[in-house]
Amino acid sequence: MYETIQTRVEAGKVGVIALNRPKQLNALNDQLMDELGAALKAFDADDAIGCIIVTGSEKAFAAGADIAAMAKYDFAETYGRDYISRNWETMRSIRKPVIAAVAGFALGGGCEVAMMCDFIIAADNAKFGQPEIKIGIIPGAGGTQRLPRALGKSKAMDMVLTARMMDAAEAERSGLVSRVVPLDKLMEEALGAALVICSYGRLAVMAAKEAVNRSFESPLSDGVLYERRLFQALFATSDQKEGMDAFLAKRPAEFKGR
Ligand code: CAA
Repeated sequence: MYETIQTRVEAGKVGVIALNRPKQLNALNDQLMDELGAALKAFDADDAIGCIIVTGSEKAFAAGADIAAMAKYDFAETYGRDYISRNWETMRSIRKPVIAAVAGFALGGGCEVAMMCDFIIAADNAKFGQPEIKIGIIPGAGGTQRLPRALGKSKAMDMVLTARMMDAAEAERSGLVSRVVPLDKLMEEALGAALVICSYGRLAVMAAKEAVNRSFESPLSDGVLYERRLFQALFATSDQKEGMDAFLAKRPAEFKGR
């Protein structure tokens, strides 16, 4: 069904999307971004799926936007058809958690797609970078905005202005990635995290994601209020009753997603 990505379901509840243009190190073209958007939406709409993992190959998560496709564009084309907006921000509309499992290169648009996921688990061979400056442009899918939020201004400027790559250890130290694991354990770790998330109440998981994302969009007082309203709303769910009853009865909770 898809040509530039592969999808599968693990353990009946985790949707896995693997970017798959190996000859181009998973460089991101319109077709890949359209297929990624469609696969994300399909998993988001599937009640059986509780969490999504986006990954690449052992050599590359994605080496950026497809330079061969982009090279011939001019201003009229990029501005006129708002190049890089087409399906690049679909990730933001996904309500279930999306984990990026990153091995190898995550450069340019690849780093930006990883940052659009909810958190990044990296293999020890992962390399992150925004090298666009080397080809006469700047990041165009949120790199200049999400990197400073993830790493702070100094490291973000360093990466965007010098184009240097950050290895997995530095990325973890800087807060860009949440965990680093040996390459051969990457999918096991990501799947483990996804299954932990799937074991919780679906509505609480979605509300938690929504609340954390809100922190990037609003002043603290608004964000705290938004969080409090979601917190209060969860008391209308049967999962809240079940979670607290189970804790008090010292038994595992059985969440129903309601
Ligand atoms: N677009 C198109 N093709 C790409 C590509 C890209 N971003 N990155 C790699 N490739 C292709 C190469 O052209 C090469 O193809 P051929 O075998 O046909 O020559 C193949 O993938 C393998 O690449 P290399 O031979 O270069 O592999 P390497 O191991 O020597 O180097 C690399 C790997 C450091 C990632 C290097 O390929 C590289 O620097 N790639 C470009 C990275 C980049 O500049 N990304 C930013 C793109 S702009 C962008 O993303 C804008 C945005 O913000 C959305």
